Amino acid sequence: MSRQPYSDDLDSRAELCREIIRSAGALTLKGFHGEARQNVSMKGPQDFLTEVDAASEAYIRHALAAHFPGDSFFGEEGGGAISDRVWVVDPIDGTANFARGIPHFCISIAFVQNGATEIAAIYNPALDELYFARRGAGATRNGVPIRVAQTARFDAASLEMGWSMRVPNTAYLGVMEALLGMGANVRRAGSGALALAYVADGRSDGYIELHMNSWDCLAGLLLVSEAGGVVCPYLEIGSLDAGGPALAVAPGLASDTSRASNIPLAAYAMPTDRQTAPARAARGPADWRIGG
Ligand code: IPD
Repeated sequence: MSRQPYSDDLDSRAELCREIIRSAGALTLKGFHGEARQNVSMKGPQDFLTEVDAASEAYIRHALAAHFPGDSFFGEEGGGAISDRVWVVDPIDGTANFARGIPHFCISIAFVQNGATEIAAIYNPALDELYFARRGAGATRNGVPIRVAQTARFDAASLEMGWSMRVPNTAYLGVMEALLGMGANVRRAGSGALALAYVADGRSDGYIELHMNSWDCLAGLLLVSEAGGVVCPYLEIGSLDAGGPALAVAPGLASDTSRASNIPLAAYAMPTDRQTAPARAARGPADWRIGG
C-alpha cells in the first residue's frame, strides 16, 4: 500500500479501495491463468466457488481490516457483519465464467456509510478496466468520466437480464417476454456487477435482475446513478443482508423498463417523473407480477 497510516475519512478509504481492488485483480488473473481456476466446488445448484474466490476475499478482507479495523466487512464467501460503516465485497463476480475460462468476471467493492453507498469500485482484470465512483462525484473508467447511453427506443436497445435459481423461472421468463415484446434485445453475460458497470459506461442500455445480492450490485448501482442513469431504490425495497430486485437503466428507457419488470425507480431519479415515482416506490419490490 502506498501510504500509511490512512486518515479516517472517505478520501482515504477511496484511495485504499482503488489500490486493493487492483491487487486483488492481479491475484485473480493469476488464478485464472493457472490451475487454481479448475478447483471448483458447488455452494448449491448453479452456484460455483473456486479456490481463487476464497483467496481474493481473504486478501481484500485482511487489507481493509489492516487500515480500517473499525469498519465491518460483508463478503459473498465468508459473510461478516453489517455496521454503520461496512465494506460489501464480491471477490469474483461471474464465477461461472471464471471457472469455464471465459474472461468476463470482475471484483466488486462498495463502501456503505449510514445506509448510503459512498464508494464503488468494479475491476475487470482481464481487460484492466477499473470502474470507480464516489457518491456525488461522477463515475469513471480508468480515470476517464463515463456516461450512460442516450438510447430512447426499445427497438434499438440492448438490455441485460440476470438470472439465478433464487427466482422462479416463470418470473424471469415473464419479464424477458415483456422486454422482447417491446422490441429490446435481451442478453445475459453471467456477471451482474460487470453488467451494471457496462450500463454506466453506455455499453449496455440497462440491467434487470429480480433478485440480486448486495455484494453483486451495490457498487454497480452507484456507478450507474453517478453516470447519469436511473436506478431502483435497492436498499429501500430490499436489504443489505437479504438482497432484493435490481434495476439500472438509461433515462430514455427507464419508465417502461420499470413497468415491464415491476421494479420501482428511485424517487429522486427522474425529474420529470417526480410525481409518479413515489407511487411506484410505494408499490414495493417486484412480487413476480409481470407487466406493472
Ligand atoms: C452471480 C452473477 C450472475 C447474477 C447472479 C449472481 P457470482 O454472481 O453475477 O450474473 O445473475 O445473481 O449471483 O455467483 O458469479 O458471484
